[in-house]
Amino acid sequence: MKIFLDTANLNQIKKAIEWGICDGVTTNPTLVSKEALPFEELIPEICRIVPGPVSVEAVSTQAEEIIQESRGLARLSENVVIKIPITEEGIKAIRVLAQEGIKVNTTLVFSPLQALVAAKAGARFVSPFIGRLDDICHEGMILVEQIMAIFNNYGFDCEVIVASIRHPLHLVEASLIGADIATVPFPVLEKALKHPLTDVGLERFLQDWAKVKHK
Ligand code: G3P
Repeated sequence: MKIFLDTANLNQIKKAIEWGICDGVTTNPTLVSKEALPFEELIPEICRIVPGPVSVEAVSTQAEEIIQESRGLARLSENVVIKIPITEEGIKAIRVLAQEGIKVNTTLVFSPLQALVAAKAGARFVSPFIGRLDDICHEGMILVEQIMAIFNNYGFDCEVIVASIRHPLHLVEASLIGADIATVPFPVLEKALKHPLTDVGLERFLQDWAKVKHK
């Protein structure tokens, strides 16, 4: 499973790259709004350091404007992927952009049919938001299973990005299902590395090592 970082924070991205577990990055308007750098400087800098796709969201709502905005964003760097919310206007834009070879990550996906339509339009990625479904008492991970089954049935060349991940168990479940990609908030990635028994075990080994006799 590829691991993307769900952040626009350069320090978090740099740390994950040092750990060797950052295959890409996803941003959205909310994540970008938390950063001090202007958007026009932030995105190229993220693209410079990330060795993989960087999703950047188009905020226009009409197809022609989405297309124009996306073309501009795609020019920022060759690893930019355009995030487009699944709407009627979005679908029209996805078809045109896909024909131009611009990669699209269809976002705000909450149903298997939204994912099917996006893949048929030519989206390269779809992002089911599982945490937000869990929040309203729907089993988000079932949506991921359904989308993967549909894509497998018809051989769509569209990768599933498990998004809106809230805790390490989501990561475990996504990898057991065999999701292509999980996009992970940095605190969840930190938690994924940790186990209290590892800390206790390491402390004991170091204490015992101090008692070992040396020549
Ligand atoms: O990248 C978008 C998605 O992961 C948002 O997550 O926590 O705002 O539902 P969240």
